[in-house]
Amino acid sequence: MLPQWNSNFSVNHSIIDEQHKRLFKLASQVYTLDANAATKHRISLLMREFYDYMKSHFKDEEEYMKTIGYPKLDEHKRQHEEIVESLNKTIKEASSFKQIRISLKEIVKKWLVEHILKHDLEYERWRKKERKSRANLQKNTEFKSLS
Ligand SMILES: [Fe+2]
Repeated sequence: MLPQWNSNFSVNHSIIDEQHKRLFKLASQVYTLDANAATKHRISLLMREFYDYMKSHFKDEEEYMKTIGYPKLDEHKRQHEEIVESLNKTIKEASSFKQIRISLKEIVKKWLVEHILKHDLEYERWRKKERKSRANLQKNTEFKSLS
């Protein structure tokens, strides 16, 4: 089973959190697809939806990381590119829907567990730390100007 979104995964940005929730839901639909029962049409539709939503989410997330001045933006962007590439490769190279389903499951799991839970939470941890050190710096400057 895939993990479900919960508040521990929050990056404290309502739009990005909503997008992550939706992606967790789509991912779990992909993950629990029964290749024997699902029609090819249903699998293609779900794949398309997952792919398109993921791409537009990455764009928004990159925009957000830029606005907070995240120093690891380029590295994070490369990770997004890798995920999109691996999805493209899966769709291009798979010889059967059964195979697509197996590869998709791997991507979804790797993406969810390793990317959102690890790397997306990292920019939020960085933002909090940065905010704190900026506040401290301001306090020290105020103190100095008083003395
Ligand atoms: Fe990300």
